[in-house]
Amino acid sequence: MIYDDELYTIKIDTVGEWQGDECFSVYVKERDEHVKIEIWDYDTLYRYPYLFEIMYQKILKSKSIYSVWDIFLNHKEIANNELRILDIGAGSGLAGQYIRSISSPQILHGLDILESARTSCLRDYPKIYDEYHVINLQKMQSHEKNLLKSKNFNCITIISSSGGSDDDPDYHDVELQEYQEIIDIINNSGYIVFNIREYELRGQVEIKKLLGKYCTLINETVYPHRQLLNGSIVNNKALIYRISK
Ligand SMILES: C[S@@+](CC[C@H](N)C(=O)[O-])C[C@H]1O[C@@H](n2cnc3c(N)ncnc32)[C@H](O)[C@@H]1O
Repeated sequence: MIYDDELYTIKIDTVGEWQGDECFSVYVKERDEHVKIEIWDYDTLYRYPYLFEIMYQKILKSKSIYSVWDIFLNHKEIANNELRILDIGAGSGLAGQYIRSISSPQILHGLDILESARTSCLRDYPKIYDEYHVINLQKMQSHEKNLLKSKNFNCITIISSSGGSDDDPDYHDVELQEYQEIIDIINNSGYIVFNIREYELRGQVEIKKLLGKYCTLINETVYPHRQLLNGSIVNNKALIYRISK
């Protein structure tokens, strides 16, 4: 057993050799229910209160939210009370929670492709986002795009959700086509703040190439992202791009 509290007892099923090859047995005490969960099965994780946070923050000690946003806000040119932020891949609201704790954005919206992400955020952290959108950016309707554009976002952040699908074809992340939409959503000028693997996956290389056409890379910093169950640490890169149209 690696974790036990009033809600859950969690055991490791698979200690994979690579990031994502990790599976857990969770005993949900309140429901007297046993469930096996792959670490990337967000839909299932979001069904249970705080379970995503317990897995990623307490067990796997993920640091990306803190590292990426500390690096961004330490950048001299950022006035954090002018930020109008869209957090894409917002999940249960953990990035939004940290952003609120260290800055005073004019607006902070969440967006995720999964309805279960919004449900978990409204259940676990209901006051974090001013609005939470469930939108598939690849199949965005014109009214959805107009709505997002009308918010005049000047900062898009995407934490631990960028271009990972080459690892697993069944898995979905924020990919190249969605980055094209993201560039369109930023109305005039602003920042795109996100993280990718230290050793970039194919999709991540493509995303960097695309952003290079429209934006200036103003920061690229390698930091420890999280630990694997075999004890090794995976590094990521924090990337900050500035766009002006
Ligand atoms: C690892 S979680 C990160 C959640 C949160 N950013 C955090 O750091 O705690 C990845 C999230 O990205 C979402 N996601 C994946 N692909 C997406 C896409 N194309 N558009 C929006 N959200 C997406 C998933 O549903 C999931 O909630």
